[in-house]
This record gives sequence, structure tokens and C-alpha cells, in this order.
Amino acid sequence: KDIARVDDLIGRMTIEEKAGQMTCLADSFRPFNPPNPSVGIQDEKRLAQEIRKGRVGCLFNGIGVAGARRAQEMAVKESRLGIPLLFAADVVHGLKTIFPVPLGEAAAFDPELAERTARAMAIEATAAGLHLTFAPMADVARDQRWGRVVEGSGEDVTLTGMLVAAKIRGFQGRDLRREDSMLACPKHFAAYGAVAAGLEYGSVDISDESLRETHLPPFEAAFGAGALTTMAAFNEINGVPATADRALLTDILRTEMGFTGFVFSDYTADEELVAHGFAEDDRDAARLAVLAGVDMSMQSGLYIRYLPELVKSGAVPMATVDVAVRRILYVKAAMGLFENPWRSLDEKAEASRIATPAHRALAREAAARSIVLLKNDGVLPLDADKAPKIALIGPFAEDRDNLYGPWAFYGDPGKGVDIAAGIRAALPAENRLAVVRGCNIHDGINGGIASAVKAAKAADVVLLAIGEAQDMSGEAQSRTAIEIPAAQQELANALAATGKPVVVLLRHGRALALHDGVANASAVLATWFLGSEAGHAIADVLFGKVDPSGKLPVSFPWESGQEPFFYDRKSTGRPVLGQGSTEYKARYTTTDNSARYPFGHGLGYTRFVLDRLRLSDTALRWDRSIDVSVRITNEGPRSGSEVVQLYIRDRVASRTRPIRELKRIERVTLDPGASRTLRFTLSRSDLEFVGAGNRRIAEPGLFDLWVGQSSAGGLHAQFTLYAEQAGER
Ligand code: IFM
Repeated sequence: KDIARVDDLIGRMTIEEKAGQMTCLADSFRPFNPPNPSVGIQDEKRLAQEIRKGRVGCLFNGIGVAGARRAQEMAVKESRLGIPLLFAADVVHGLKTIFPVPLGEAAAFDPELAERTARAMAIEATAAGLHLTFAPMADVARDQRWGRVVEGSGEDVTLTGMLVAAKIRGFQGRDLRREDSMLACPKHFAAYGAVAAGLEYGSVDISDESLRETHLPPFEAAFGAGALTTMAAFNEINGVPATADRALLTDILRTEMGFTGFVFSDYTADEELVAHGFAEDDRDAARLAVLAGVDMSMQSGLYIRYLPELVKSGAVPMATVDVAVRRILYVKAAMGLFENPWRSLDEKAEASRIATPAHRALAREAAARSIVLLKNDGVLPLDADKAPKIALIGPFAEDRDNLYGPWAFYGDPGKGVDIAAGIRAALPAENRLAVVRGCNIHDGINGGIASAVKAAKAADVVLLAIGEAQDMSGEAQSRTAIEIPAAQQELANALAATGKPVVVLLRHGRALALHDGVANASAVLATWFLGSEAGHAIADVLFGKVDPSGKLPVSFPWESGQEPFFYDRKSTGRPVLGQGSTEYKARYTTTDNSARYPFGHGLGYTRFVLDRLRLSDTALRWDRSIDVSVRITNEGPRSGSEVVQLYIRDRVASRTRPIRELKRIERVTLDPGASRTLRFTLSRSDLEFVGAGNRRIAEPGLFDLWVGQSSAGGLHAQFTLYAEQAGER
């Protein structure tokens, strides 16, 4: 039925209407994005005219049922063919209820949680009249200077793939036609996370192997989970902007990966082909983008301006346009929009499904689970019943402006719980909490340090809330150094000098390089941008109501200069190995090669011990599998959760392999004294890599295996993969 409907429409559409279906414009009925002056559609009236003429297929970045219904009525009832509009927006970590930023939530190492929060986001977003979210970000980010690290799942390809797939399942639900299901748009295709030196919108120069091994697999996971749209990245790859890269958008994306949905440009990235020095002018840019495989042009209006003429002149075949329109209409059909263009446009749902208590409770749970206890000399958990005298100090102590993080435009700023409010709610009525700002985010306050020191001296414990403002990470927020701003570092150093126990509560959208008073604090917690329930969640962890169980999805280096930095790096020919001279070795002269806190690291309030690592066989036959088992025991005084991680290393291969690669994770919750035996199964496909000719291969030989509590250390074993034929190497 859908095929017949789409074919019939395509047969009746003019080239102007086809170009219109391939155009997504900022929603001036519910303005959020400034209209792009070059489109010429600057106001509601002009936009309405274009919709009635069938020259718009999608509106983006506006929310609210009333505005969407008005626009949909124009499209369905007043345009010649009545094709419904698609309503899209960046709902990255929440609409009104704001969940932790994706990087923070990745620290939960928990696909099930990622799916639940995405479901809640979709329930709110569809109640606000949306059909599609430009999320999740599937870019693997290996340089913390890049601001968009905050929007992804960190540095690891396997973890990113798991979480992206879970998000897509959550957004899209079981049936896309349900009015609370929402299309996902995994982005940015591809290698956006590999921009040189972490410079936003910068160039990517990358080998085919790295592209396929590190940057494409999360998209494979996304498409495997059913994503029907994606977005071409802003960056160029090896000299060709992704938006004009036919080999990427057609040969790899469609022929190799089998993607059948449609591709958005990232905002005006088609127009930007001119600035890249790849297109002569806007007309040429439209031609290159459509021929490469960009189906839906976002915001530039290039397709409505140039496609009709490009097709008439023969520069773009009508067949190319038809393929793109067909993809877009199929996706609309998959959403059930032709049967019910009014789906997700229900005022009752809008009034009842947004910012519900259940979503707030989930936001609190997700926020607490995202917190990573980096260090603890025993000061935590605090005992609320003993009513300790607490000095809460720092620019984020009592501050609602930096709770949500980037891409949370629709969350109400006043509705988030800041740290001071969260702690007050956790303490007995006569609490003894002193709140002092101490300094601003970027500069000092007259007398600020003196009052902070005074408050610290009068307290039993200092909670120091410092870090990055929310506009210091996100799109276009690359930094050259990933450090705490100087004024805050000075405050931290002064508080350290008081000798009082200091608990640092980091606010941040990336891994940071920590120094002096921050690094030497009694306890340090990574608290990211936790969203609506930030303060409650932080208090839950500080007072031990929730045992911290987050794990770092990004390595914290010692110094900014170590970036790009990630755990799954290569050995080099001159590795630094434990003992012995470090002369003429692959190292910096000033800094250790290790991380201050490695990927996968995160403490709790109890103590887990792993033992009895067993392999069912030390030989892995080509078409068989081996079982790995390990016992985990909670030897500490409290119940708690641990994420057990399994890594491998291929010792010798025809392309050098990383020193470790994450293959499995398992979250366990145990009472004090309790043990559990965990089992993992590994087979040849877990050992594959991208070899010559871009083929995925596994090679026989020796493998290391570690099961541990982070990417460093762990219990070690080895096994050998044997070729199909005995004796074959
Ligand atoms: O979805 C985003 C993208 O990630 C960055 N540029 C703008 C798009 C639409 O808002």
C-alpha cells in the first residue's frame, strides 16, 4: 500500500514539489532557530505560502501542538497533493524533563537505562508535536578538546554502538506508527569525532581502516536497531566534504551498510560546500549534495532554489531526485503519517505527558547513575544523620543556569534542582549548610576566596562545585586546554590549603585535566551536566542513598597536551613497558603515558573483588566459541553495583591492533558478602578487525584477555584462535 501510494505521488509531483519534499526549514511558526536570510522565507507568512505550494517537506526546531497543527493543516488541506509535513527537533537529552547529557549518561555503562530515558524523551517530544529527533550522536570522540564530546557516548566504539542502538530502540519504540514513537537520526555521518586537533568543523584526514573500524560501527549498530534517517557530517574526510561525498553517502552508506532511509544535510552544510572550496557556487553546491546522496537539505533552501533548474538543464537526473523523494515519503509512510497526519498532535497528550513525576524520577535515577566517583580517601559517603557542617562552595553551588548542558533548549531553566537545593533537601531540617560562591566561572570575585576560606575553616567538610559552564562544551565549543578555568583553580588551591577535607563536584562536558587543589582533594566526582534532577542526584550519592557506580566513558589525561587520548591506542615500536629505561621510548618527557583516570574507571562505596577467571578452553576453534567466567564478590560493607569489563588484545596481526579493546560489559548489584559468577561467550567475530581491502577478518594466533573494573589492570588470561584447517596460520 505504501509503495503504491508513494509511486502514485511521485508520478504526480512537479519538480518544484519534489524539491519541496527534500527541504527542511526552521519552523517560524514556533521560532527557535533564526530563519536563514538566504532562503528568503523569513516570516510566518512566507513560510505558510511555501507550505501551501508544497515547497516544504519538514519543519525543524519548533515545539508545541498548536503551531504544528496549523502547519500540518496547510500542508494536508491546502497544498495540491496534501503530503504531510515531518516535524523535527534536537531532542538530545530531554524535552522538558532534562536527563543527563549523553556523555554523562554513557557513564552508567547501561544500555537498558539509555533505552528507558530515550523512551521518556520520545513520549514528551511526540506529545509536543514532534516526529523526529536529531539524535543520538553516534560519533566516537577521541579528543577532549572537541566540544561535541558531550553529546556522544565517549571514546569507545563498542560502548558507543551499544548505547546508540539502545537510544534508537527507546526513541522509536516497538512500532513507529504509534503516536508516541519518534524517528531517530543517528549523526553525524561520518568521522565528525575525528576532526584534527578537536577543532569544531575541522578537517578529517583518516585511513580507510580507522574510518571503518572506529567511526562507522556505531552507525551500523544504529541502522541495525532500525534508524531510518541520518545526517551527513559538516567535516570533510580526506579532502572531500561529507555532504558532497558520494563514495561515503552512497557507496558506503547504502551499498555496503544497506541503509534504506534518508539523509539530512547538517543545517546549511550543503551551502558550506562553497566555503570548503569544493563547489563553485550555491547552484553547484546543490548539485553536488544531491548527487552525493543528501536527500533532505536543511535550512539552506538550496534544493527549492536550484533543483528545478538543475533537473531541467540535465545537470541532475530526475531519477536521482525521485530516489530521494521516494526515501523521504517511505519514511513518512513508515510513521503512519499518510493515514494519520494528525498523529502526535494531541493537546491532551501535550498537557499530560510532558514533565511528569515519573519522568522526573527517571531523570533522578539516570543522573545518580551517571555520577563517577573518581577518587575517595574515605570522606564519602557523608552521614546526613550526623548533620555535618558543610561548606558548599563554588560557582556551580547555587546555580540553575548550568545544570542542563548543551542541547536542552526546551527545558525550563527555573525547574532544575541545583546542588544547594539538593543538599538542603537531603539534610535534616536544622541543616548546617553554608553556601559561598567564591569566584565566578571565569573570573574572581572581590573577597570571594577570603569568604570561601572562612566558610571552609568553620566547616567539617567542603563541597567544591567547579568546572565548565554549559556553554563551554557542545557545538562550536572546542577548547585548546581542557582544564578548570584559572579563577576556579585558584579557589580550589586556597581551599586545599585550609587542610579541611574537600570533595570536588566537577561540572563538565568532557574529560578534564585536573591539577593541584582539585587533583589532590579528598574525593572527586565527575558529575557532568546532570539535568533537571542534578542536585537531588548529587545529594543521593554524597549521602550514600545511592552507591556510585558510574564508569568513565572517556579517559582523564594528566595533561591537556596528551590529547587526543584514548585507552585503545597502539603499542608503537618503542612502548614504555613497566620497568626499565624510558629513554628513546614513545612517551612525553614531562608526562606519563597513562591516564590519571582511565576509561572504565569508577569507584563505589563498597569493595568488589574479582577472582577465579576461567576459560572453557585456551583454544578457540574457527567456528566455535569459548566461555569466560569470573567470580565477583562484594567484600565491602555495603551493597553496591559494579560494571565488569572484558577486554582483549590480538598479539600479532597483519595490521597492528590496539593494546586493549573492550568487548563485553556486565553490570552486577550485590549485597555485602555476596558473590556471583559471570559468564561471557567469545567467538571469532569478536576478534575481527578491518584488514586489507577493507574486509573484516580475524587472524589465528594468540590473544590476551582481561576481565576487570576498568581498562587498566584486571585478571589476565590468554587463548589462541586456531584456523579452520589444523596447522594453518
Ligand atoms: O542536529 C543539529 C546538528 O547536530 C548540528 N547542526 C544543527 C543541527 C540541527 O539543529
